[in-house]
Amino acid sequence: MSRDSHITALVVAAGSGSRAGDGPPKQYRTIAGKSVLAHAVDSLLAHPGIAQVQVVIGQDHGDLYERAMAGRSLPPPIIGGAQRRHSVRAGIESVRSEYVLVHDAARPFVPEEVIDRLVKALDRCHGAVPVLSVVDTLARKEDVLGDTIDRSTIVRVQTPQAFRTDSLIQAHRNWQDQREATDDAQMLRAIGHDVALVAGDPLLEKLTYEADFKLAAARLAAGMISRTGMGFDVHAFGGTGPVWLGGVAIPHERGLAGHSDADVALHALTDALLGAAALGDIGDHFPPSNPQWKGAPSRLFLEHAAALIRDSGGVIDHVDLTIICEAPKIGPHRLAIRSTIAELLRLPLTRVSVKATTTERLGFTGRTEGIAAQAVATIRMKDAE
Ligand code: CTP
Ligand code: MG
Repeated sequence: MSRDSHITALVVAAGSGSRAGDGPPKQYRTIAGKSVLAHAVDSLLAHPGIAQVQVVIGQDHGDLYERAMAGRSLPPPIIGGAQRRHSVRAGIESVRSEYVLVHDAARPFVPEEVIDRLVKALDRCHGAVPVLSVVDTLARKEDVLGDTIDRSTIVRVQTPQAFRTDSLIQAHRNWQDQREATDDAQMLRAIGHDVALVAGDPLLEKLTYEADFKLAAARLAAGMISRTGMGFDVHAFGGTGPVWLGGVAIPHERGLAGHSDADVALHALTDALLGAAALGDIGDHFPPSNPQWKGAPSRLFLEHAAALIRDSGGVIDHVDLTIICEAPKIGPHRLAIRSTIAELLRLPLTRVSVKATTTERLGFTGRTEGIAAQAVATIRMKDAE
């Protein structure tokens, strides 16, 4: 077969995660609000050399997959098999590129430099793997402690593993061993090819047990910096009520005028999030000139901004909103507004603050000509430097 020169990443996600405790299979559990699988896929897609990511999923995981991958344009998932090597085999035959990276979904963070090292090594070998040295003393396990093993001769092998696609397919077709192959490199060796070693990365550590999730979240956090964004918006009264504020319809004799539902509070909050992520402003993403947004519920804008942050690996830590008006009174609706925003941002209530104030009858808000809102958002994002 003539093959494309780009690289395909094959992500195996068909396991049941039996060692990781209760809940959905580990690849569908979340770290910082995003599934482990989505982290893995997004970090592979972020590499300029990778043109396509193909995921292999479990027979019964279709719904979990659709939810985890919403918004990404990927080829339809392939159904895997009983053991990891069956899952790789199911996926590998569909690969059209010359090189393929095989990666465990259970390793959510893939540093770009590791991929660079692997691909470079394919110039000299048919396969390449990232490895880490062993730092603990290694010994044989008998009834009591057995002999020590020389750790300088041992490495820990991670994924992604890189292969010339034809060689990997041949290796899989030839694998007769009844034992489970826990990775693909050993199968390549079995047909006589050398596998190159490149430096791995602690970020690639596999999630196996429950406790690994806390460590992974901490690893993710260590590479992020805190950022703050500010948003401000004003809408004039016009027409009849209710007034939409913070996603809640508040009964009032007059409503706010605007192209969408004129929810001034959600607009300020959306701009605060976009500002924290340095992603422009609400008008860039939802131009008022576009009839699509006429009468649109502003919750769409806020959810979009939150999704942009999550999809780029960011985390929303806290938002604080101030609504400035003489009327309607916000107090009775404050909890409903907080709860609505918390739900839209997928945050606990304690991370959402809503305040209200008047301007002592001064200015346009004092004359009840309109409502103003300002918001501050604190997020964490990967430090680009
Ligand atoms: N995997 C797979 N198909 C299988 C078994 C495993 O695609 N039949 C994938 C897993 O989803 C995971 C990777 O291979 O991304 C590494 O396997 P492992 O860590 O063993 O995951 P699980 O098999 O899901 O976990 P456990 O062994 O604890 O059940
Ligand atoms: Mg397993």
